[in-house]
Amino acid sequence: MTDASTAGSRPKVFVSRVIPDEGLRPILEACDAEVWQNDLPPPRDQLLLKSAGRDGVLTLLTDRIDDEFLDRAGPQLKVVSNFAVGFDNVDVPACTARGVAVGNTPGVLTDTTADLAWSLLMAAARRVAEGDRYVRAGRWQTWGPMLLMGPDVHGATLGIVGFGRIGQAVARRAGGFGMTILYHDVARLPEAVERELGARFVPLDELLASSDFVSLHVNLTDETRGLIDADALGGMKSTAVLVNTSRGPVIDSMALFAALRDGVIGAAGLDVTDPEPLPVDHPLLTLENCLVVPHIASASPVTRGKMASMAAANLLAGVRGERLPTPVNPEVYERQQ
Ligand code: DGY
Repeated sequence: MTDASTAGSRPKVFVSRVIPDEGLRPILEACDAEVWQNDLPPPRDQLLLKSAGRDGVLTLLTDRIDDEFLDRAGPQLKVVSNFAVGFDNVDVPACTARGVAVGNTPGVLTDTTADLAWSLLMAAARRVAEGDRYVRAGRWQTWGPMLLMGPDVHGATLGIVGFGRIGQAVARRAGGFGMTILYHDVARLPEAVERELGARFVPLDELLASSDFVSLHVNLTDETRGLIDADALGGMKSTAVLVNTSRGPVIDSMALFAALRDGVIGAAGLDVTDPEPLPVDHPLLTLENCLVVPHIASASPVTRGKMASMAAANLLAGVRGERLPTPVNPEVYERQQ
């Protein structure tokens, strides 16, 4: 999709997947842009090849941006604009060291992601996917007094791990269900925020032991990788429902498999998995009490449009040498002074 007639002095960019028009249009208007047209991500060699010599790249969470990438892209690269709020696919210190600004898309997907966390929470608790499979398999023979029972959501205790924008939006939605809300994060929030959300800070082990529902909203870092391992799962209620819309590696997948299989916890609702995509023969997919959807928490047309427009704004600001509207590494500007 390179517009050769107007190329020339226009910034050269690579966009690693077709994104909604709200973002693609301004990029194509302003840049000499090549857009990866396949539904699947560019293979590593193609990502490196297509990004070489560009002033900016718009990447997805499936593209790994590291020293090798930056070496191959070249010293003229000014910006990596990630089409996601998460940026664990980007080696941010490596970008900063080379003066490359990194952008993400915070804020615009908060409510859409919180909506999906709640969809998973309710569907896993009340066995919605399992019930649908049951009906489609022709097993529905009568109304059953014991059929497909699952725990009540209303009046239960919700534990939120990671109490940033999305965690707080999940808490806000719990109000209508009369839930007790516990949260854990690296730091406690101001009391006024706790009061407004009706949430109480507790240590992680207390949250896991006391919650009927546990929803994960942490960034993936060295500290949170494998946070929910066999020990953590062993400390949860045997009826607990675990929801993950953060990043797959926050949970040890095989420990989760064992916990779900052995009744250590009740059920799980996962938007994100490790590995991702989850192979169809993965043990987790043999379990009725594990609901998995393909990383779609931000997937509403309005939200994806906003993410696209934000990612484009970061890309365009970056290639023009301006400050990104939402930089992940604002320290890159101090470095340039
Ligand atoms: C993100 O933005 O980090 C989500 O995982 C995808 O929208």
